[in-house]
Amino acid sequence: MSRLVYRSVNDLKGFSLKNCPSMPEPGRILMCPPDHYDVVDVKNPYMAGKVGTVNRNMARRQWEGLKEAFMAAGKSVVEIPSVAGLEDMVFCANQTMTGLTPKMERVCLLSSMRHPSRRREVGAFEAWFKAEGYRVQALKTKASFEGAGDAIWHPGKRLIWGGHGFRSEPEAYEEVVDVFEAPVILLKLVNERFYHLDTCFCPLTPESVLIYPSAFDAESLELILKIFPVVVTASEPEAVRQMACNAAVIDSTTAVIHRGSASVKRHMEALGLKVLEVDTSEFIKSGGSVYCLKMFLY
Ligand code: ARG
Repeated sequence: MSRLVYRSVNDLKGFSLKNCPSMPEPGRILMCPPDHYDVVDVKNPYMAGKVGTVNRNMARRQWEGLKEAFMAAGKSVVEIPSVAGLEDMVFCANQTMTGLTPKMERVCLLSSMRHPSRRREVGAFEAWFKAEGYRVQALKTKASFEGAGDAIWHPGKRLIWGGHGFRSEPEAYEEVVDVFEAPVILLKLVNERFYHLDTCFCPLTPESVLIYPSAFDAESLELILKIFPVVVTASEPEAVRQMACNAAVIDSTTAVIHRGSASVKRHMEALGLKVLEVDTSEFIKSGGSVYCLKMFLY
């Protein structure tokens, strides 16, 4: 194991967030239109009973509403064309992880999707990021890795939080450390409802994070409590039904969140965030909401 992959608080001896160099916030947002979005199989508990129930017109309207919210939060949105037959491509947080090296080189690390049905999505993103001038890199390990769904940058810092347990495997993070030249704190997911880290962990500011505690094992909770002075928790209905932790926080100032999580919203506002509510109900049928319908670009 690389000495820059931390698995428990014991590994953190000598580590301090203050000593992590700063990292610019993402400038733009990438989205993939839902032209071919559908629920055709069951890859996570949200999808059970939802096969064939997607209202594509409604999904389109909700997706446009989300795009407008990102623009209202001050970001420009660029689009990658959707591909027929790739019904989950709309969840564009999963096929890659993007970031900057310490020398400010823009890097795109390609995912190695757990489910064979999603593997073809990665090629479309590979071509798109190459055309954008990113250094595009593939994993050498056979371990699976689902990009920014599981690997989340700490706001404004050269530090990555790495979820594993369902979709990504710990070995992949050895390479994440090398590619981005940044340490990774591993968090183990233990509840299949929370199959990606972005379903239960949402950094709000450099000092605060929103989590759903029972998604994690005890060591992972300790790690979160060690690094973030403020930990806000979502209730079960808000975390499960509204996917409240799958919010997207822009520049540590604006949170875009699926509508109706009153208590999470109050906590966010108490921390000084502006909250924009959107409707993503058609996408929750597939196990995704605001965060995973976009990719941050550097
Ligand atoms: N149906 C997709 C899957 O199971 C949803 C992905 C949602 N993405 C996310 N980062 N939570 O793979």
